[in-house]
This record gives sequence, C-alpha cells and structure tokens, in this order.
Amino acid sequence: MKENITNIPRHVAVIMDGNGRWAKKRLMPRTFGHGAGMNAMIAMARKAKAMGIRYLTVYALSTENLARPKEELEGLYTLIRKYFTKNVKELYAEGAAVRVIGDITALPAGVQQLIREGVENSPDDAQFFVILALNYGARAEIVRAVNAAISRGERVTESELGKLLDTADMPDPDLIIRTGGEIRLSNFLLWQAAYAEMYFTDVLFPDFDEKEFEKAIADYSRRNRRFGNV
Ligand code: FPP
Repeated sequence: MKENITNIPRHVAVIMDGNGRWAKKRLMPRTFGHGAGMNAMIAMARKAKAMGIRYLTVYALSTENLARPKEELEGLYTLIRKYFTKNVKELYAEGAAVRVIGDITALPAGVQQLIREGVENSPDDAQFFVILALNYGARAEIVRAVNAAISRGERVTESELGKLLDTADMPDPDLIIRTGGEIRLSNFLLWQAAYAEMYFTDVLFPDFDEKEFEKAIADYSRRNRRFGNV
C-alpha cells in the first residue's frame, strides 16, 4: 500500500556510497559505477524536488577521494564537467540552483571555473537547491571557520560559527542517508548533523532509485524528533 508521507524534510543530505562495488559486480571499471551513480543522483534530485524537499546535499567527492588513482579521479572530473555544463541547465530550467561546499581550489583549474560558472548562473529565485560537496571534509571545514573567526579576533557563538561554515546560508540537514551498507558519517557535515536523523541502507547508490528514496523519506516522516526535549 502506498504510504501518505506527511512530514517532508526540508534538507536531505546523501552519502552516495557503493558505485565501485556496483561496477565490480558487472565486471566494469569503477568509473562506470560513478557514471551510473551520477544518473541516480540526477533522478534523486528530480524526485526530491517533486516531493517538496528544498535542499539536497550530495557527497560527490570527499577530501579523501582525492587520493584515489589518477584514472578514477579523471573519470570523476569528467562527470563534474558534464554536470556543470549540461545537467545544470536542466536544473535552471526547472527553477533550481546549484551550490557547492568544500575546498574546490584543489581541483583542476578548468573544473573550478566550470563549477563557479554553474553556481553563478543559477537562478536567483530558486526554490530548490542541489548542493554538491566537492573536496569536502567536515573537519577541514570547521578548521577554516575557526581560523576565519580567529582572524576577526572575536569569540563566536554556535550560531556565529555556523555562519562561517560552507553551509552558512542553508538549514542543517534533517535527514542524512547513506547507501552502500556502511554505518558511518565519513567526515560528512559533522557540525550540521547534530540533530539529523540517519538512514542507512545496503542498496548500492546506482540502485538507489526513486522508490528507495521515497522509502527513506517515509521512514523519516514516521520518526519523532525531539531535539533533546521530551
Ligand atoms: C563512493 O562510492 C562514491 C564516490 C566516491 C563518488 C560519488 C559520485 C557520484 C555518485 C557521481 C557524482 C556526480 C558528480 C557531479 C561528480 P565508492 O567508489 O567508494 O564505492 P565502493 O565503496 O563500492 O568502492
């Protein structure tokens, strides 16, 4: 029976794990799995928007991922180039915007340029945001924010520190999803996850289709969030 989901999260963040294993099962290179993962990510964004979610953050490239073999990294950069030239246009047409968190200055100059253009060309009045975490690591993000506070010579409150993070203009995630069977956060949104609900599934990310996404949202909507209260 189809469930009526009443409580839609405002911000969903996703650790898209399992692309490599998905490809291996098919005797294909890991890059093939990332390509399938990107298709799943695009379908997930469409579904999220249709469900009324406002912010979708995806862990597309962790700081640790930069140490992967050159060939795999090149494959990921090719996908990022494609996303920021072709796929973002489809987002704009639907009134959606793209944003980035993480330190993109470590990426190849041409890739950085396309990312900046993709963010700048986004519509100003967007109602839906796809936020790509690229060369993102939560500890590095927190350290950058702390150093920014120190250079201002001011003590900060939690809310002021929050405004120095890459996520400054976004609400904290309500729900964090991790596909691929591991039960950990892997340096993703550590500060912002303080009160997030967690959803873990064994489904490998390329197989995480609209139905699976809807299942995760339905699970969230049944939870009772108390934020430390009774
Ligand atoms: C983890 O799977 C996934 C990644 C390192 C990359 C995620 C990227 C995408 C889904 C496509 C990204 C879209 C853009 C715009 C770049 P894994 O390789 O660690 O999988 P494994 O645990 O099975 O080895």
